[in-house]
Amino acid sequence: MSSERVTRHSMDNRILVAPMMDWTDRHCRYFMRLLSPSARLYTEMVTAAAIVHGDHEHLLRYNAAEHPIALQLGGSDAGWMATAALAAANYGYDEINVNVGCPSDRVQSGQFGACLMASPDIVVRCYKAMRAVVAIPVTIKTRIGIDAHDSYDFLRRFVDPLIDAGCRTFIVHARIALLDGLSPKQNRSVPPLDYERVYRLKSDYPDLQVVLNGGVRTLAQVDEVLPHVDGVMIGRQAYQQPYFLAELEQHLHPEWPMPGRRAVVEQMLPYIKSELAAGERLSRITRHMSGLFAEQPGARAWRRTLAENAYREGAGIEVVIAALDTMSMAA
Ligand SMILES: Cc1cc2nc3c(=O)[nH]c(=O)nc-3n(C[C@H](O)[C@H](O)[C@H](O)COP(=O)(O)O)c2cc1C
Repeated sequence: MSSERVTRHSMDNRILVAPMMDWTDRHCRYFMRLLSPSARLYTEMVTAAAIVHGDHEHLLRYNAAEHPIALQLGGSDAGWMATAALAAANYGYDEINVNVGCPSDRVQSGQFGACLMASPDIVVRCYKAMRAVVAIPVTIKTRIGIDAHDSYDFLRRFVDPLIDAGCRTFIVHARIALLDGLSPKQNRSVPPLDYERVYRLKSDYPDLQVVLNGGVRTLAQVDEVLPHVDGVMIGRQAYQQPYFLAELEQHLHPEWPMPGRRAVVEQMLPYIKSELAAGERLSRITRHMSGLFAEQPGARAWRRTLAENAYREGAGIEVVIAALDTMSMAA
């Protein structure tokens, strides 16, 4: 990664790639960084308990090229959150983000995630404990409401004490979470989006950094949203059609060179080689790359060649090169 790319990130905070369990692991983030020099990248949610009790290197390692990178933490025990935040700061993360948006049963039974919207005092305690031990920003990712608490006032009652405690950045998934009866997947599509509530938060608190998340899939939507808020966080579209990130960078920074899809694959090869040499399996990396050629001629051949071969014992970069070749022939 050239130093020019690495320094670009400090210039712009408008694009963020969402934390996504099982998707935004370190390989995915390295790949996304090649597509988007400026995006702020978020890890999958890691629980504070896992960091307190577990293997830091396994949970926290990342590649320097991934900066700016935020660790998303899940938890509600202030002491554990502080310990985990400190570990992340020591690893060089640029931000700690607290998950107040996940509705899964597992997370609810641990008393964290979206259910914490009903207990701002707990989030404030965690926030203060983290801020007492780290200098990097601690931010909150939340919903616009939960269950029957579907109003702007409820959102305000959640953010106000956090603002008083010093929190300056809120990433708001613009739909409520229904904590009973909907799966996490349904909770990302069934409750309707309400961007106006997020815009209102920004207009009532102009000094806050407010980032809108939820349902953004096109450049036109980004253009529509950005005048109202400070940034836009993109989840599924960035993963399923990763080249959208390159198009978005080109759209926001026409003066920056736009990498072609093949060039991105070629830039991945040295990374893949070194990861394989360290014992990683090819499919752990290439699984994140299968959407790169979405809607392009030969996309199916690319996906199929990777899917059928990358998981094999000993599979190496020749599989990726073969996938490119097969795609060219199929196109
Ligand atoms: C597979 C998957 C895993 C997710 N995991 C997390 C997570 O760990 N933490 C979190 O705050 N949100 C998580 N989300 C929610 C996303 O961060 C985001 O809020 C949501 O997908 C809406 O944005 P989008 O419409 O741009 O995808 C996940 C979403 C998906 C699709």
